[in-house]
Amino acid sequence: MLRALARIDVGAIERNCARLAAVAAPARLCAVVKADGYGHGAAQAARAAQAGGADSLAVATADEAAGLRAAGIEGPLLVMGALTAEELPAALRARADVVAWREEFVAALAAHPDAGATGVHVKLDTGMGRLGTRDAGEAARTAAAVAAAPRLRLAGAMTHFATSDDDPAFAREQLARFLPWARELRAAHGGLPLHAANSAAALGIPESRLDMVRCGIAIYGMDPFGRDPAEHGLAPALELRSYVAEVKPLAAGESVGYGRRFVAESPTWIGTIPVGYGDGVRRALTNDCDVLVGGRRVPLVGAVSMDNVTVDLGAELVERGAEAILIGSRGDERVLAEEWARRLGTINYEITCGISARVPREHHRDGVVVADQARAVAARGAAAP
Ligand SMILES: Cc1ncc(COP(=O)(O)O)c(C=O)c1O
Repeated sequence: MLRALARIDVGAIERNCARLAAVAAPARLCAVVKADGYGHGAAQAARAAQAGGADSLAVATADEAAGLRAAGIEGPLLVMGALTAEELPAALRARADVVAWREEFVAALAAHPDAGATGVHVKLDTGMGRLGTRDAGEAARTAAAVAAAPRLRLAGAMTHFATSDDDPAFAREQLARFLPWARELRAAHGGLPLHAANSAAALGIPESRLDMVRCGIAIYGMDPFGRDPAEHGLAPALELRSYVAEVKPLAAGESVGYGRRFVAESPTWIGTIPVGYGDGVRRALTNDCDVLVGGRRVPLVGAVSMDNVTVDLGAELVERGAEAILIGSRGDERVLAEEWARRLGTINYEITCGISARVPREHHRDGVVVADQARAVAARGAAAP
């Protein structure tokens, strides 16, 4: 048994992708596996996504693209983020497509020794206000420069929605800004793929699906609207598991943890679970979270510390070593990343991205382990003098 383990069901990622691909068709599915696959493991997520019908992958950084190639992942790959001159070679050597919105960047790209049939997607900023140009003329000139460069290939025209999860009307305004520009570009460059939709738009704004949807959160079985993923036929892929390392009685008036943030009103049993904010269990969950211990939902009590949390087991004595599920389900009980997000006033994305590197990942398909960082970590420990 390990102190902490994130178990990722690659079968769930595969099925979520198949579902999204079916919903989006005839638009193609690009699976977004940046930030280590939203904490799920980028390479394993990428493989599962491809098996589920994603025909391309996207990441944010050049290093992430290089990491996928080093893990043996093939197929079309897009680096969506900004790239410095220092980072460009890694992206190009990874044979990734890149995003451009300035002519100077295209000139540098076209002259780069590592470029060669490099796909370039031109980005119009229609309201997100981050990357891309707001100037449709500049975007068109950038596209023309790509098309004119012998070692570059105009591979797409794109934009990104700011509010597809909570204000579809604004997303539709963005789409209305994007389409005239993108369609004109497509008329000039026959067959150019257009893409705009993230998970929320792919699920909630059918007309935004265009030629391709770029789905991240939904492929991991989390709901882009912060509700129950099952509403869209999605199943969470990640379980965060630990165990009850210590059990002790607490008399009325006694406390647990830093700052005595929980004082027992009546005698109870307290279980200590050896995970904490060093693992991504955020301190703001102090006295505000539930854990499934032996399949029973029990309240987290006291302060979340770096390496431990405590739970109130009530009158029912639990054996040391009992399983503790922090995110996941047992029987009819489940704790979703969406529940943590609601309690923390954040989004589910931040919950799984926040599970730290200290937590080993174990990938399985229907319970059969497919790649096991956890056991590798344990074996390294066992081999140490
Ligand atoms: C440009 C771009 N497209 C698509 C996505 C995927 O978004 P989501 O995870 O909401 O599906 C992201 C992620 O933030 C993104 O930055």
